[in-house]
Amino acid sequence: MNDKELVAVHAAKLVKDGMRVGLGTGSTADCFIKELSRLHKDEGLNVIVISSSVVSAIKAREMGLPLQSIEQTERIDLYVDGADEVTLDKTLLKGRGYDLVREKLLAKAADRFVVLIDKSKLVGRIGERFPVPVEVMPFAWRMVKDNLVKLGGRPTLRRTANDDGLVVTSYGSLVLDTVFDATIDIDDLDDALNALPGVIEHGIFRGLASSVLVGADGAIQELGP
Ligand code: 5RP
Repeated sequence: MNDKELVAVHAAKLVKDGMRVGLGTGSTADCFIKELSRLHKDEGLNVIVISSSVVSAIKAREMGLPLQSIEQTERIDLYVDGADEVTLDKTLLKGRGYDLVREKLLAKAADRFVVLIDKSKLVGRIGERFPVPVEVMPFAWRMVKDNLVKLGGRPTLRRTANDDGLVVTSYGSLVLDTVFDATIDIDDLDDALNALPGVIEHGIFRGLASSVLVGADGAIQELGP
């Protein structure tokens, strides 16, 4: 079992009968979906899942998990997802996928948000390895880009992997991947991005994670106090 599978199996043990559980997106979330489905099928665990993406919804359905749409959802008991970067105070950077909006909605709607990472995701500061994804209304991208530059960022519209066009999310929005200097205060940046017109959502998840489980060389550590 690799470290992602290890933390995913551990997190699945947190799911109790009758819970509503949010499913994240990405390779670590996939491990969790697989284990949750095993518990549902083999051990009769009664659970309802709400997905943060079309991709995870398809996987959950294929694996026989009872799915509820996010439109029908107010609160959930538990949300489990991965992250791209995590600092010691449990601030996250997410959104290398294209599902920021639903991911943050579920993180906020959950009584408990458990983040699963391997130790490669631990960083000294948010933005250390990846740009901050800023999802924008398509017609607003130039104005938002200008405002991101004023905040000290270097924004670039996200392009497809084979560079033949712009990435358009499942809701028709665009993503400005934005590099900020190491000197920027991440709490101030979070506040500034939350206040920018035209921004739908961004990848800084501050004050949302209840716990972060770190898989490190076959062992699990929990981050912070
Ligand atoms: C998607 C995310 C993912 O959780 C993040 O990219 C981590 O992915 P992985 O588990 O594949 O490393 O934020 O928007």
